[in-house]
Amino acid sequence: MRPFLLGVLSVIVVLAVGGFAVVWFGWFPAAADAPPPFPGEKWAANRVVKENIAREEPQPPYPFGPSTDALVLAGAKLYMTNCSVCHGSAGSKESNVAKGQYVPTPQFTKHGVDDDPEGETYWKIEHGYRMTGMPSFKGSLSEEQIWQITYFLKRGMSNLPPAADAVWHQTHGD
Ligand code: HEC
Repeated sequence: MRPFLLGVLSVIVVLAVGGFAVVWFGWFPAAADAPPPFPGEKWAANRVVKENIAREEPQPPYPFGPSTDALVLAGAKLYMTNCSVCHGSAGSKESNVAKGQYVPTPQFTKHGVDDDPEGETYWKIEHGYRMTGMPSFKGSLSEEQIWQITYFLKRGMSNLPPAADAVWHQTHGD
């Protein structure tokens, strides 16, 4: 029994020292243009996000709803000032900011999130995703504003009322 426990202990010590050395000497890339260094990193990150959202997303009935054209228009305006630089708009080509992100930035001009439940999209905007370019807007937008953007995205980019569609076709200046 004793040699076995000593063996387990040595493995733990070697792994701990090895892990510390990898960090101390910076033996993995820090650059945003490098490929992910660890196999399974992307899978693990996506899995953790999915489970966090499933546990915490708001459930219907959602506040400030049901969706109206006025809510969608307010959301469109907030989207253009806070999000389009990364996620795009009908009036602009993909920005350099979006192109340079380490984690690829979904372009809502190509694939929207109108299939997702509102609660899921709300969670993503409120909390963001740690260690990606997706910010948390909790401290900078009110709950009402985040719901307005959520209702805008839920309506679908090919289904917008005319006033919101005109905003969606503006350029974000890049
Ligand atoms: C600085 C760039 C940046 C800004 C600004 C930004 N995002 Fe993101 N966003 C990202 C990135 C990168 C991801 C992908 C994260 C991932 O897949 O791990 C993302 C993911 C998302 C997703 C999930 C998309 C999907 O297909 O599941 C939603 C929804 C979203 N963002 C909404 C918004 C909204 C709304 C705003 C503005 C209030 C915003 N984002 C602002 C970079 C950004």
